Amino acid sequence: MSSQAPAIPAGPALFRLDERVAVITGAGGAFGRATALGFVRAGAQVVLTDLDATALDETRRVVEAEGECLTLVGDASDDAFVRATFLAADRAWGRLDVLVNNAGINPHQAASEDYPLDVWDRVLRVNLTGYLLHAKEAARLMTRDRRGGSIVNVSSISGASALGRGNLAFGVSKAGVDQLTRELAVEWAPRGIRVNSILPCQFLNAGLRGLVTDPARKRTVDRMIGGIPVGRMGEPEEVVGPILFLASPASSMVTGVNLPVDGGNLAFNAGGSLPEMDATW
Ligand SMILES: NC(=O)c1ccc[n+]([C@@H]2O[C@H](COP(=O)([O-])OP(=O)(O)OC[C@H]3O[C@@H](n4cnc5c(N)ncnc54)[C@H](O)[C@@H]3O)[C@@H](O)[C@H]2O)c1
Repeated sequence: MSSQAPAIPAGPALFRLDERVAVITGAGGAFGRATALGFVRAGAQVVLTDLDATALDETRRVVEAEGECLTLVGDASDDAFVRATFLAADRAWGRLDVLVNNAGINPHQAASEDYPLDVWDRVLRVNLTGYLLHAKEAARLMTRDRRGGSIVNVSSISGASALGRGNLAFGVSKAGVDQLTRELAVEWAPRGIRVNSILPCQFLNAGLRGLVTDPARKRTVDRMIGGIPVGRMGEPEEVVGPILFLASPASSMVTGVNLPVDGGNLAFNAGGSLPEMDATW
């Protein structure tokens, strides 16, 4: 399968997902909802999962206005639920082309020497093991049908450089996602399965919208934005293009890549200066 180039569509069709079936986890949240909507607008049929039934229901309402979806409530780190997710996709549409591993948590910040082990275990279970469980099931269907496919893992800048501020478990889990991406990309390339990740900086989900409006957290927010050369946090809709690119035929030769979607954050040295910060040169 890998030795033959796929048929490459021309023009905007490069980024279309017509007749493709995609599983998107964490679909009740900011990135998941925006991605689900972006995918159906690109022609995909989507299977959407989340632990939060109310949030997932809201996503279903928004997505159903534009295309076809199936929703399943459950824990993305539970092996039985993951298997049920792919069974449902297969029963509904008989194929699987794309997986977006997106459900993630960062429930607790603490000094590393005091970091609670039960929280550490949970963060690694959801953010890393959950991604592996989904990738395994996705690869089984993609291999069975000999069509290959694309797996997009939502990682974070915090897996590539340390955030500090007590984010030990989150950062380590995302670094694990980046290596999981490379390992699976290499191993599954001969089967036509591409595996990539995106590394977002701070984007305005519900949690960060609360933070930016809290005067007590102004220093932290200023520090976050000061590290992003474009001078602002992202909007959830701004992850859709990069994810769609990695999911679509436009990226047929891209695999094993951890792509920053970060307004220049990872390109910017921690001791570096923007022109308006330092006029001494
Ligand atoms: N927003 C950011 O600034 C940012 C930055 C870097 C990386 N990320 C990553 O992007 C992904 C999505 O983040 P978001 O900003 O949309 O967050 P969000 O909190 O808006 O959405 C996350 C969703 O995942 C769901 N979820 C959590 N645990 C689950 C589980 N065990 N099983 C199923 N669903 C579960 C939640 O219910 C929620 O709907 C996460 O992996 C996050 O780490 C976000």
